[in-house]
Amino acid sequence: MSATQPPADLTPLPQVRRLVTSIPGPNSQRLAARLRAAAPKAAHSPTLPVFAARAGGGVILDVDGNSLIDLASGIAVTTVGASHPAVAAAVAEQVRRFTHTCFMVTPYESYIALAEQLAARYPGVPAEDVRAMFFNSGAEAVENAVKIARAATGRQAVVAFDHAFHGRTYMALAMTAKAKPYKAHFAPFPAEVYRGPASYPYRDGLSGEAAAQRWIEHVETQIGAANVAAVVLEPIQGEGGFLTPAPGFTKAIVEWCHRHGAVFVADEIQSGIARTGDFFAIEHEGVTPDLITVAKGIAGGMPLSGVVGRAEIMDAAGPGGIGGTFGGNPAACAAALAVLDAIERDGLRQRAREIGATLTAGLRALQAADARIGEVRGRGAMQAIELVDPASQAPDAALAKAVAGHAIGHGVATLTCGSYGNVIRFLPPLTISDALLTEAIGVLGEALAAV
Ligand SMILES: Cc1ncc(COP(=O)(O)O)c(C=O)c1O
Repeated sequence: MSATQPPADLTPLPQVRRLVTSIPGPNSQRLAARLRAAAPKAAHSPTLPVFAARAGGGVILDVDGNSLIDLASGIAVTTVGASHPAVAAAVAEQVRRFTHTCFMVTPYESYIALAEQLAARYPGVPAEDVRAMFFNSGAEAVENAVKIARAATGRQAVVAFDHAFHGRTYMALAMTAKAKPYKAHFAPFPAEVYRGPASYPYRDGLSGEAAAQRWIEHVETQIGAANVAAVVLEPIQGEGGFLTPAPGFTKAIVEWCHRHGAVFVADEIQSGIARTGDFFAIEHEGVTPDLITVAKGIAGGMPLSGVVGRAEIMDAAGPGGIGGTFGGNPAACAAALAVLDAIERDGLRQRAREIGATLTAGLRALQAADARIGEVRGRGAMQAIELVDPASQAPDAALAKAVAGHAIGHGVATLTCGSYGNVIRFLPPLTISDALLTEAIGVLGEALAAV
């Protein structure tokens, strides 16, 4: 146990914003120095300058005793809060029974129960025709969705979208759009990966149908419909800037896939698991995907990911063809079952919609007074502001960085994103109180005024 890690305090975390040092405080600064000495450069620049001691509800308590409002959820992971009692109890109970057997060696029931639960929630396909398989990270789920789609179609081409983010392993990285910091210096990437134009209504001004037609022309002329194994789309593009496609775009892409025998994969790693107000974000589009990738919010912070989809496609990969030592770890499965239960019991889809309404109203009020907020967009508890030069609408990444920096300095944790780095995203845990949410929007307004 270290000097900054006292014995676990299990009293409920006060749901307040309270700063007792400047940010970062001395303990965080000491840990940052140790981090720089112990880990390579790639790990030196966490988004937030503070180190965590505890987190839960809607706050993060740092190692200096500062209580920060959490609008990040560890990048959309702690949807049910970072220390939900039912999740903590389920994990503790499971690790007392066994920590690991390897599901491919000695299977266990919780994995099956989780697959059944996700099948029951799959949009547009009866549960008995859905299968699910579990892995560790989001990138691993994306890799496996591609493998499954290639096996099912006998084709090779994988088509993603401009502004996409699908992870940092090689296939996922090849599909990811942004060069810096993700792709620079790491080439070459796997072959037969393509990207087509996305729907970015704020910048392209296109209707969903027109944006889809642009994508279809690109794919048909440059890749060839008959070569496409999989089309992988984030229902709301996360790292790319919370790009919410124009109405009709996703539907047209899915219909094109089904006309041409390509597998449509909804990458719900950031947008799924009740975040947008429906269990899966793709439900807002009224379409039936062939496969869905899940991770992040599924297991309340335990590492777990999965591919869920139509049985006839999922079954294309034979026994042993996909898997891994840790995939569907029993503690992670136990956590995921507790998360799904909490979503139902605590009405968290509805809560995501309420949070969305509060955020949208607050952010639109800020926008009305500040032309540098070019757009407020998102769904449910997945909202963002795009910051621009009001005269030219040119992306203003420096402003986004300064506002986020001011906010954390005043006790509100946010994340930036976007291909141009000019978007601030809001991903609060669904357990945050209205009072904290409103206070955080107030701090954001102060930050905009100050920078
Ligand atoms: C849409 C999407 N896909 C894939 C990933 C990769 O997930 P992981 O970081 O768990 O590998 C992310 C992570 O941010 C994501 O947002």
